[in-house]
Amino acid sequence: MAWRESYEIGVEEIDCQHRQLLVKLNEFFDACSNQQGREKIEETLKFLKDYTIEHFGSEEGLMNGIHFPELADHQKEHAEFVKTVLELEEQVKAKGVSVLTTIKLNRTLTDWLLNHINKCDRLIGEYMAQRKLQA
Ligand SMILES: [Fe+2]
Repeated sequence: MAWRESYEIGVEEIDCQHRQLLVKLNEFFDACSNQQGREKIEETLKFLKDYTIEHFGSEEGLMNGIHFPELADHQKEHAEFVKTVLELEEQVKAKGVSVLTTIKLNRTLTDWLLNHINKCDRLIGEYMAQRKLQA
């Protein structure tokens, strides 16, 4: 999946991180669909997990700093996604990843990410723009 300009929310730091997140996601999917071996798949998934957690942390820090009113709901969404990734990690460790699982995963994770960026993260950008706030 490729990054598009339309995914940008207008906060450079966050847009940058989203682009990185997509890179990590693609690296994981590549490892899965090319069946690069369990070690590589686990490694790319670990990078994806670590980066996801780091990114959510910085996004939440930003929301906190600007007193973003929907912080709690937004945090809940993040927590759910982290839980999904952690469960996925368990699954991969236990059973590896089949090509079919990869296709399903690709859809689920990518859909979640794009949907989240468009619906939730975009609100942060709008809130900051309205109040002329800087990250
Ligand atoms: Fe977010």
